[in-house]
Amino acid sequence: MRTHYCAEINESHVGEVVKVAGWVHSRRDHGGVIFIDIRDNDEVVQLVCDPADSAEAHKIADEVRDQFVIIATGKVRPRGEGLENPKLKTGKVEIVVEDLLIENRSLPMPFELDDTKVNEEIRLKYRYLDLRTQRMHNIFKLRSNVTIAARNSLAKQRFLEVETPVLTKSTPEGARDYLVPSRVFPGEFFALPQSPQLFKQLLMVSAFDRYFQIAKCFRDEDLRADRQPEFTQIDVEMSFCTQDDVINTAETLLKDIFEAVDMGDKIPTTFERMSYNDAMEKYGSDKPDLRFNLAMVNVDDIFANCQNEIFSNIAKDSKRNRIKALKVPNGDNIFSKRQMKGFEDYVRKFGAQGLGYFQMKEDGLKGPLTKFFNEDDLKAIVDRCELEIGDVVFFGAGEKKVVLDYMGRFRLYLAELMDLINKDEYRFVWIIDFPMFEVEDGKVKAIHHPFTMPKLKDGKLAVDDIEELESIAYDIVLNGTELGGGSIRIHKEDIQSEVFKLLGISEEEANEKFEFLLEALKFGAPPHGGFALGLDRLIMLLAKTDSIRDVIAFPKTQRSQCMLTKAPSGVDAEQLKELGLRIKRNINQ
Ligand code: AMO
Repeated sequence: MRTHYCAEINESHVGEVVKVAGWVHSRRDHGGVIFIDIRDNDEVVQLVCDPADSAEAHKIADEVRDQFVIIATGKVRPRGEGLENPKLKTGKVEIVVEDLLIENRSLPMPFELDDTKVNEEIRLKYRYLDLRTQRMHNIFKLRSNVTIAARNSLAKQRFLEVETPVLTKSTPEGARDYLVPSRVFPGEFFALPQSPQLFKQLLMVSAFDRYFQIAKCFRDEDLRADRQPEFTQIDVEMSFCTQDDVINTAETLLKDIFEAVDMGDKIPTTFERMSYNDAMEKYGSDKPDLRFNLAMVNVDDIFANCQNEIFSNIAKDSKRNRIKALKVPNGDNIFSKRQMKGFEDYVRKFGAQGLGYFQMKEDGLKGPLTKFFNEDDLKAIVDRCELEIGDVVFFGAGEKKVVLDYMGRFRLYLAELMDLINKDEYRFVWIIDFPMFEVEDGKVKAIHHPFTMPKLKDGKLAVDDIEELESIAYDIVLNGTELGGGSIRIHKEDIQSEVFKLLGISEEEANEKFEFLLEALKFGAPPHGGFALGLDRLIMLLAKTDSIRDVIAFPKTQRSQCMLTKAPSGVDAEQLKELGLRIKRNINQ
């Protein structure tokens, strides 16, 4: 239906008759002559409909409206002097239309297509129109290039692409499962995979050695700006490997991807590594944004001496508690009194009792709490925090987990407020040496997943303090976002059973849920490990967009709905009957 895509038309076609097809991007009637910008999947080219050239085409041009589908034939000519448009690839030429066809009409657009401030629900309801914009096309071209580059990189690294089932049994990754009722076995359900974790491990038992998959994963969890219920992972597993082997594979993959999208200069030659403990203590997060500094230091030992009992008591229990100082260079000259008060309100939202501070003045450390400290301790604070005149140091005190969390958030809040983040920088860091478990409300939980290999002593699982046990797990963090994660896995059945036990999973439950895995581990499972990168998150960061919905063609809303198809939706009584299901009016009964 066309001789050329719009983007192809340039000065080399002057004098040639071409045929282009696409949508009316805009239309301007200049008293007699009508100009139409026609856009196909990629670019715009200008059509000129002059009654002097073709009365018929001009009559049709009079009828066309925005977003009509048209096919135009005409001769390419240079644009007049001063009429060139440097913003367009085709900006030096135009097509003088001889023949114009309206292939299909369009209702007026329900919203201004290029206006990103339009209510998102409307954009999502008419997602096919939202996707028609150049901005969206650019994102999806990037996404396609990244996926192709990932496949090429992994194939080059001798990985084999294997698909694993979507109708399956629950794989715990910390979220709720999406369930699919079985018609053949009424009352029984498939779960959609939260990840292909167990299948990829089984493929290692099958001697595949190196597997990958661009895998759809499903998690029913609270949504955030970087989470969707249905998302995609670049999922990788390999056998006979160490942590370094897996990390090298992931780094090669990331380098190949960045190079393929012309961002090779943004990726480091060597990636930084940081222990989980350091990340938490310095940045209050296991996904620290290292594009700016503002690292925290411990001051518990200094506060232990002070005359304020609340602080000294907190400081004395350094296993449970923390007193953390966060220096803001020149903060005393930057922040107003009102802002300082606002900071306290901010951290209180995350469980802080208050937010202390000292100001470094010419005559020493000042602030409401200096009276509780002796001269030596004040000097110790100045030295520990490396304070200079004009600096402010904030401190948070209380239960370790709470303090690290709110001070970490406060650090990010300050960085945004003070514009400390270079948005062009891509700062990677591997977080390693994760704890194996965390205890929440007395319940032991796996920090990664229960198939992660704990660090063993002489090949044995020795647990003195469950929270001290480390695992061979690693996360790759980019600009404060967890881009991916992985681990070396347990490949021995006895250790896997012990880990289930530590997690409070009874033998019966372990057998019921994971019998296939425990059994497979008894048939010559090789040592193995792997990782998964969140593809959507990677695209978000490459495309510099704040919302994961921008990089998924047909995403769900914050409430996990599809505005376009209105899914989820009710089903016929007949379908329910077949599945042996009955809907309760009140779900809580
Ligand atoms: P994990 O649960 O850390 O690991 O997931 C890996 C990566 O997937 C992305 N991700 C998400 N992206 C969008 N929306 C979500 N709801 C969502 N949840 C996770 C993140 C994350 O880092 N089986 C393990 C991997 C392994 O051990 O090999 C796993 O799934 O970028």
